[in-house]
Amino acid sequence: MKKVGVLISGRGRNLGALISAQMDAPYRIALVISNIADAGGLERATDAGIPSLVIPHKGKSRDAFDAEMDAALRAAGIDIVCLAGFMRILSDSFARAWEGRLINIHPSLLPAYKGIKVHERVIEAGEAQSGASVHFVVPELDAGPVIAQASVPVRPDDSPESLATRVLDVELKLYPAALRLLAEGRVRLEKGLAVFD
Ligand code: GRF
Repeated sequence: MKKVGVLISGRGRNLGALISAQMDAPYRIALVISNIADAGGLERATDAGIPSLVIPHKGKSRDAFDAEMDAALRAAGIDIVCLAGFMRILSDSFARAWEGRLINIHPSLLPAYKGIKVHERVIEAGEAQSGASVHFVVPELDAGPVIAQASVPVRPDDSPESLATRVLDVELKLYPAALRLLAEGRVRLEKGLAVFD
């Protein structure tokens, strides 16, 4: 049974999906950390009886903030870290320390549309499809090897909000499936590649 730590900054819809899926999965979420004190996801953790922690990032160097998170995750005996709507860029040293056990969900079909304002850029480019990707986190932003992806159509009348909603629907299915693969040891990061057994 793998112990999972989830890092959030917002509403925690992805956290909610991971919580719902854990009962019949080989992982248990043992700690939720938010860098934002009033993040809605903290309530989801409390409602599920999961310990949570607020570690503000304000007024701290990236390394100091990451060192606090690292210490809390290790103290909780965490095996796998999931970024779920976590809106901070992690230091290279944190990414390296957790490499192979640190994953993220990004609302595009990586490697396309890394970074922010994804839906606006997808619509602007006239793409016919978009989607979500779960990937291993490496020091370069949104650049780690992909573990799982799911695509959705982009409709001609889509707004960034309507597209975000459609993408989120697949995120909430994709993330639990990808975390299960990792927790079961059926995927691993090897020489910069996601390797499946
Ligand atoms: C979602 O749109 C997701 O694409 C990205 O963060 C956003 C907020 O997610 N990962 P959540 O509701 O905080 O899980």
